[in-house]
Amino acid sequence: MTALLEVRDVSVVFDGFRALDGVNFTVDHGELRFLIGPNGAGKTTLIDIITGLTKPTTGTVSFDGSVINGKREHQRVRLGIGRTFQTSVVFEELTVLENLDLAASFRRPLVSLLARRKGVTEKVAQALETTQLTDLAGRKAGVLSHGQRQWLEIGMLIAQGPRLLLLDEPVAGMSADERARTGELLTEIAKDHTVIVIEHDMDFLRRYASTVTVLHEGKLLIEGSVDEVRADPRVQEVYLGRAREEAAHDVVS
Ligand SMILES: Nc1ncnc2c1ncn2[C@@H]1O[C@H](COP(=O)(O)OP(=O)(O)OP(=O)(O)O)[C@@H](O)[C@H]1O
Ligand SMILES: [Mg+2]
Repeated sequence: MTALLEVRDVSVVFDGFRALDGVNFTVDHGELRFLIGPNGAGKTTLIDIITGLTKPTTGTVSFDGSVINGKREHQRVRLGIGRTFQTSVVFEELTVLENLDLAASFRRPLVSLLARRKGVTEKVAQALETTQLTDLAGRKAGVLSHGQRQWLEIGMLIAQGPRLLLLDEPVAGMSADERARTGELLTEIAKDHTVIVIEHDMDFLRRYASTVTVLHEGKLLIEGSVDEVRADPRVQEVYLGRAREEAAHDVVS
């Protein structure tokens, strides 16, 4: 079977700076793949390449067997590629339910948007249930906690019915409880979607990841199970070397 996503030999050059350098990255149908790497490794750029926000300088991106390099962002959304951003994009003045409803209508034909809709559509109801936000459906998004906001964003993505979900650091800034709940939410979503999650935190990975791809300075460093990746000396150097530098910095400052 063809892989759902295939990034082949992709490089991205910004003003002479190589943010991605000859990256090959394949994700099969139904995978929950974690993408890790230190700051500036190129993780968000890789997501941007897949969603069409950034064009690769060289290389190809294929989705479900077809090259999509020429497709614009909204066309890729229609193909079923959905993402969240590192910063939140919910509508604060709208309720949780209204945000979800809006997201769900994004891929609907105009004629059904114009028709008066009654009640909650199945997709919205399912997004509420999966994210466990049913009790907060009537609450304005602006008053949600940081964690609840992230879940709403993930819910908005699910409501669009994507085949591939790209989540950029969904647990950043969350409490331990919120992280655990997000880990379970990702596991649940991965049962019927293909998911790529960017995350730095090794503890989180140990708990929820199976396959991990490590990027470093625009290159794919290693791909494998959490244990394989953690045992790799290059990964240890990238992470532990940085930890040593930070510790040294803390002592000095
Ligand atoms: N539009 C741009 N123009 C110029 N340089 C960019 C642009 N976008 C990203 N970069 C640079 O490319 C490199 C990779 O950035 P990217 O955002 O992909 O890293 P990241 O792995 O997501 O890092 P972080 O963990 O900090 O989110 C960084 O050095 C960044 O400064
Ligand atoms: Mg990033």
